[in-house]
Amino acid sequence: MSIIFDEKKNTFTLHTKNTTYQMQVNQYGALLHLYYGRRTEGCMDYLLTYADRGFSGSPYDAGNDRTYSMDVLPQEFPSQGTGDYRSPAFCVKNSDGSYGCDLRFHGYQIKNGKYGIKGLPAVYSEEAEGETLEIYLSDAVSQIEVCLLYGVLPDLDMITRSARICNAGKGKIYLEKLQTACLDFVTGDFDLLSFYGRHAMERTLQRTPVSHGAQVIGSRRGTSSHQYNPMMILAGRETTEDAGGCYAMSFVYSGGFKGEVEKDQFHQTRMMLGLMDEMFSYPLESGETFLAPEVVLTYSSEGLGKLSQNLHKCFREHLCRGKYRDVVRPILINSWEASYFDFDGESIYQLAREAADLGIDMLVMDDGWFGKRDDDNSGLGDWQVNEDKLGESLGSLIQRINGLGMKFGIWLEPEGVNEDSDLYRAHPDWALTIPGRNPVRGRNQLILDFSRKDVVDYVFEQVCKVLDQGNIEYVKWDMNRSLSDCFSRSTDDQGRVMHDYVLGLYDFLERLVTRYPDILVEGCSGGGGRFDAGMLYYCPQIWCSDNTDALNRLSIQYGTSFGYPISSVGSHVSAVPNHQTGRSVPIHTRAVAAMAGTFGYELDLHEITEEEKQEVREQVKEYKKHADLIYHGLYYRLSDPNTQGIGAWEFAAEDGTEALLNVVMLKMEGNMTVNYVRLKGLTSGCMYEEQSSGKVYPADALMEVGLPLPVEMGEHLAYQMYFVRVS
Ligand code: GLA
Repeated sequence: MSIIFDEKKNTFTLHTKNTTYQMQVNQYGALLHLYYGRRTEGCMDYLLTYADRGFSGSPYDAGNDRTYSMDVLPQEFPSQGTGDYRSPAFCVKNSDGSYGCDLRFHGYQIKNGKYGIKGLPAVYSEEAEGETLEIYLSDAVSQIEVCLLYGVLPDLDMITRSARICNAGKGKIYLEKLQTACLDFVTGDFDLLSFYGRHAMERTLQRTPVSHGAQVIGSRRGTSSHQYNPMMILAGRETTEDAGGCYAMSFVYSGGFKGEVEKDQFHQTRMMLGLMDEMFSYPLESGETFLAPEVVLTYSSEGLGKLSQNLHKCFREHLCRGKYRDVVRPILINSWEASYFDFDGESIYQLAREAADLGIDMLVMDDGWFGKRDDDNSGLGDWQVNEDKLGESLGSLIQRINGLGMKFGIWLEPEGVNEDSDLYRAHPDWALTIPGRNPVRGRNQLILDFSRKDVVDYVFEQVCKVLDQGNIEYVKWDMNRSLSDCFSRSTDDQGRVMHDYVLGLYDFLERLVTRYPDILVEGCSGGGGRFDAGMLYYCPQIWCSDNTDALNRLSIQYGTSFGYPISSVGSHVSAVPNHQTGRSVPIHTRAVAAMAGTFGYELDLHEITEEEKQEVREQVKEYKKHADLIYHGLYYRLSDPNTQGIGAWEFAAEDGTEALLNVVMLKMEGNMTVNYVRLKGLTSGCMYEEQSSGKVYPADALMEVGLPLPVEMGEHLAYQMYFVRVS
């Protein structure tokens, strides 16, 4: 039993292997948050304190008790209008135009298995692996009913949250704000770790002290965005990779979001994550229900490394789905940086032929194969194969490539449309535009109104016609701009469009993975502009960034690793000078960086030398040899590449039998001092043999003092060392 209700104390306690989460229903029926952290028994209501606080009002039913105020107490689902002046999780506009909702407890249920959410991605488990707590709250005046959902996965140290909001009253109401998860801390000094960035430079770690006032991250772009990732970590000031307490929240959602951390007047901290509330005003007619997208929570008392490992395992095994979930994915060659729009069937075939010769498994034909699409100004939306350009049918090209022993994959961008396309000319009203206004263009394209089922149906049909033309085993699902002009011709309530768009996207993806269970779908949005837990439910891997520069990738992949498993990180070796930065680093370094991901190539293989081809052959073999460890081993960050002279990371088998150490030298100096890199996750008391040198090392010394890295001349050299436990 991981969920316990104590009738005497009125507490709900959720236990995972190493953590405990506790809440209490108080004498007024308010649901208060008591504790989240290291596993413990007992009742933590002693943490609540009461005092008469000026300008912190009290609910009417507290009578003369001026020490009782929602402005001060830690809560599970703080609602606007109860006298809590901190940022609320829930705001509603009632049918009479008033704001406010005072939610009180009126029941609960504990269920076997973890809940799912209809139409939305969510963590799943076998019935025996999880439990669900449903807590029912309602507002006596408006009759709004809220069911708070808690999923508990004890072995994973994961707690998930969602909510069902039902309008059980008579008139129409509007949800104006909905933060799925809220964590109130009555005390503590924290740092906030968030992940900011831009196109081609995503998920840069930022660690800042939480101070008075609010720190807010989010996206108004209709996608989770390159600019901030929908993931945040609250850590003790002293918390490191290996020690100290830390909490993560990750949003299982691919649209706009808002993450808030606020330190209040009494130095209490509130952390929340949920839907972006700007341009959100979601109507609920009488009897209608809204489902809040899920937030996953995890806590580690052993530092950030363990926190990430919790998220990795959960997402890898309980969020990603389908045939490719647990298997090593094909190593691919992608045509984008090899030839951009300039290709035909024969040149694609020749690229595949070269790749097959090097041991690569799959050819992906990127953008440019459909409609009138020789650059990114036209053709998007016309999902008809351009046989004139290819010089053959898609079916014939696929057959020829399969004949080489290679799989075939294809690029799609179903959500986009160019004004210069047959689709737009036939259905201009299918694009998100505001009547009478000129729309904002992004990459010279518009976005289709995926909040409309008829639009989704049509595009799905067109896409199926393409996918049915041959043995397509992979789809790259791209999305190359932020949403704007979010006006749908299908509704009078424009405040619902951005969320309905995401529901339409999920509907399309669900239909796609159901109809084509054998297709591997890789997510993409101008690289990592929609790298979130929601997409992982449909796509077990996501193109991490349009930036393929190996050194920049170390930083991007470092940030990404805090929240997402290595098996989800799309990463390729590309040409030098790099197309995004102009920098040249050795092909070995590029490969070591790309091996911290699903691995592949993205360059014209005709342009590399025979020696480099031989290296590629070796890299492919090397990756295949270690792929299982890379996918399923424990991932350790051994350095911060943003601030240290080396980028170092390690994959270690959970049972300590093997470990793969990866290092890239970032800083060279004359008369170099030696870098010692300390390994992690080895079995204490055992010896490890490094396979290329045959040298044997004591595990404890490798973990305590480290391994001296060679002092060699050369720019940005990389080392990959494979250790096997020998005694
Ligand atoms: C996006 C992707 C790239 C490539 C192009 C094609 O930018 O991230 O990898 O597919 O689109 O237009």
